[in-house]
Amino acid sequence: MLVLSDKIKHIEESQTLALSGKAKRMKDSGLDVVSLTAGEPDFPTPRHIKDAAIAAIENNFTKYTQNAGSPDLIDAIVRKFTHDNNLYFGHNQILVSAGAKQSIFNVLQAICNKGDEVLFFSPYWVSYPEIVKLADATPVAVPTSIENKFKPDIEQLRKAITPKTKALIINSPNNPSGVVFSQEDMEAIGSIVKDANIFVIADEIYEKVVYDNNKHFSIGSIKSLRDNAITVNGVSKAFSMTGWRVGYAGGPAAVMEAAAKVQTQVTSNANSIAQKATVTALTVPTPDLQTMVSAFKERRDFVYERLRSMRDVNVAMPGGAFYFFFDVSTLYGKRFQNHVIRNSADMGTYLLDHHHVATVPGVAFGDDSCLRISYACSLAELEKGLSRIRTAFEMLA
Ligand SMILES: Cc1ncc(COP(=O)(O)O)c(C=O)c1O
Repeated sequence: MLVLSDKIKHIEESQTLALSGKAKRMKDSGLDVVSLTAGEPDFPTPRHIKDAAIAAIENNFTKYTQNAGSPDLIDAIVRKFTHDNNLYFGHNQILVSAGAKQSIFNVLQAICNKGDEVLFFSPYWVSYPEIVKLADATPVAVPTSIENKFKPDIEQLRKAITPKTKALIINSPNNPSGVVFSQEDMEAIGSIVKDANIFVIADEIYEKVVYDNNKHFSIGSIKSLRDNAITVNGVSKAFSMTGWRVGYAGGPAAVMEAAAKVQTQVTSNANSIAQKATVTALTVPTPDLQTMVSAFKERRDFVYERLRSMRDVNVAMPGGAFYFFFDVSTLYGKRFQNHVIRNSADMGTYLLDHHHVATVPGVAFGDDSCLRISYACSLAELEKGLSRIRTAFEMLA
């Protein structure tokens, strides 16, 4: 019989992509839908980065590069890690991939055996559990709570460690909650990682999107974690380059060489033209980044006030990234016409079908009490979307 693998039957499609897809289809059919699901900045890639890509094409930089990345890009990444993150890598410790997502995939393929457990805090980025499962390992979510502003719960983390634990993935600034872990948080996590002698994979893709007094801190810069930490980053969010597909990771040489071996058999090098553009992104300072972060901050403040004024919503102020993850569970059990809203999926469907506003149900991120909205869209769209959400909540009885 022609059948698919057992593994693929246990892998979920990205639910964020599924909902934004449905919203797009509704929009395309002529409906006025506000989509608050975007996982990417609504700004263009800066001009000088696009010019670098055009020059790469004109100069025929259009062939395979070294598997791990072209030497000028690896050099730029080594310098970036030193300058921004206090991370000191040799060139053999860097791997450039087709997005941070592939970086995480390669690393997990390189370190996991069947039955290994990989921890991450919930709410978590939707892809972590699935990438862990693709590596034949077992995902384990360690809960955090909105009451504690989604800060890492160190005691819960300690309890979650077992002899099978292989790695912990951390993501700060965080998608979906926006929490930014402090240096103190990182040191507490680091001491658990060291005691348990496990890997820590730090997903720092939102590093540049931080507000107020929040400061990004790389756990890999803690000296005692040199052999344990793998730091993942990319250009998708900071430089509005989601479609270019460039991510990178730095870590212990043995891990990175093994991850590079995985890549040789899957994609080979990341796109050569996008690599050249990334050299420019990482080496030429740009005011566009500050403009983008200031716009996000203005929107964040606007959305926070709106959500805070809704009686049935519990919301925490995010310190980074461009999402709100807010609790609507006091509305569960209420009705609209004949439908009872039982959970975040029902709520997401109700908002989209009856009020034409797309959100992502919290269940996709491991917390069914919440919804995620993105503020990577104009203030006018946010105004419209949030008024619809308010009306939708008020209509539930
Ligand atoms: C937490 C997190 N990590 C990684 C990624 C993927 O980044 P990339 O586009 O570099 O694959 C995303 C994208 O949404 C994300 O939210």
